[in-house]
Amino acid sequence: MKILIVGGGGREHAIAWKVAQSAKVEKIYCAPGNAGIAQVAECVNIGVMEFDRLVEFAREKEIDLTVVAPDDPLAAGAVDAFEAAGLRAFGPRKNAAVLEGSKAFSKDLMKKYGIPTAAYETFDSPEEALAYLETAPMPIVLKADGLALGKGVLICKTLKEAKEGVQSLMLDKQFGSAGNRIVIEEFMTGREVSVLSFVDGRNIRIMTSAQDHKRAKDGDEGLNTGGMGTFSPSPFYTKEVDEFCRKHIYQPTVDAMRTEGREFKGVIFFGLMLTEKGPRVLEYNARFGDPETQVVLPRIRNDIVDVFEACIDGTLDQIELEFEDNAAVCVVLASDGYPEHYEKGYPITGLERFAEADGYYVFHAGSKFDAEGRIVTNGGRVLGVTAVGRDLKAARANAYAATDWVEFGNKYMRHDIGKAIDEA
Ligand code: AMP
Ligand code: GLY
Repeated sequence: MKILIVGGGGREHAIAWKVAQSAKVEKIYCAPGNAGIAQVAECVNIGVMEFDRLVEFAREKEIDLTVVAPDDPLAAGAVDAFEAAGLRAFGPRKNAAVLEGSKAFSKDLMKKYGIPTAAYETFDSPEEALAYLETAPMPIVLKADGLALGKGVLICKTLKEAKEGVQSLMLDKQFGSAGNRIVIEEFMTGREVSVLSFVDGRNIRIMTSAQDHKRAKDGDEGLNTGGMGTFSPSPFYTKEVDEFCRKHIYQPTVDAMRTEGREFKGVIFFGLMLTEKGPRVLEYNARFGDPETQVVLPRIRNDIVDVFEACIDGTLDQIELEFEDNAAVCVVLASDGYPEHYEKGYPITGLERFAEADGYYVFHAGSKFDAEGRIVTNGGRVLGVTAVGRDLKAARANAYAATDWVEFGNKYMRHDIGKAIDEA
């Protein structure tokens, strides 16, 4: 088979690496890809939102299956564009990707179908939002309705902060039209867990759990980022939690989408909070997480292409996912200054060592070849250094040891990825 992967970050590198292990696959393309993905796929210079060019490329190269990984093209209907051209694509259609694309939609869905989540109100008018805040309990959470690179969520401790939040989201339009509508929701406390799943419209298969570290600095300080590191499994995701979520969250979400005429095929990422009152949905994503994928895919035994095809064909009930009895940790090596101002273009050295080391992976998030053919930094998040181990502590020690193998200018990382393991 010939496979096209749409995207160009660490998640897509992990997907390409996993797809490359499938016995069925003869050729992988990635648009636009990066210098790390180029080791396993042929990178083509087409942007993820250039649907016409992507479809034309897939036709010309006789691609058998396209995997659309990022949220923006999914929300804008990339899968619909491939299907309209008679091509097979993995991912939700536009009418289902709204599960992530609109927070108001997902909150209303959960309310309608009794799926546990934080209490909330939706506002289109800044005046009404401000009036509501006057009597609301603090802290409180403001969320831009639309996609905002995972940054459209404000946790406000005081009324003053909350009013400023409404100002920046709805009036100053910090995230553009994503803030035309906002959700104001109850503040919850508890451990966060990410659970990825495969869905075929009707059936759902749960992958192993993971946890992300979203803040830029140690101790969960600093600004929100795309994710600074992950570990899998989460020791807090117990059998009881799993049973509760299967009964009250996972299948009910799939059924709700089908009942709404928005059959979901692809990956649903459940962002959960384990509160005192039980697990609650923080958010849905309609795609693989980044960098959750980097710790989950190395632990899956199945041929991933079989699973993608079963999702498209509606035959996921015939697939059992199998996982290694181990753990994985991913530490993101970023450019100092991320997520604000950072420099690019520094040569990266030491990457060869990963090729020889079993159980160690370096997934590239932001890298490219410079004019001289060297691999250089090309983003805020640069590499996801990942290692497996017999348990979480071993995986963490391995991943941190491997962060020393590579060097580049302004290399920055958190030193406490997986610290929560010690509290389990
Ligand atoms: P989201 O993009 O909706 O996952 O929100 C980003 C982050 O904000 C989450 O990972 C949580 O840490 C936090 N968050 C979101 N909603 C709530 C809530 N209702 N209560 C407390 N924290 C929240
Ligand atoms: N790691 C969180 C996300 O992919 O949205």
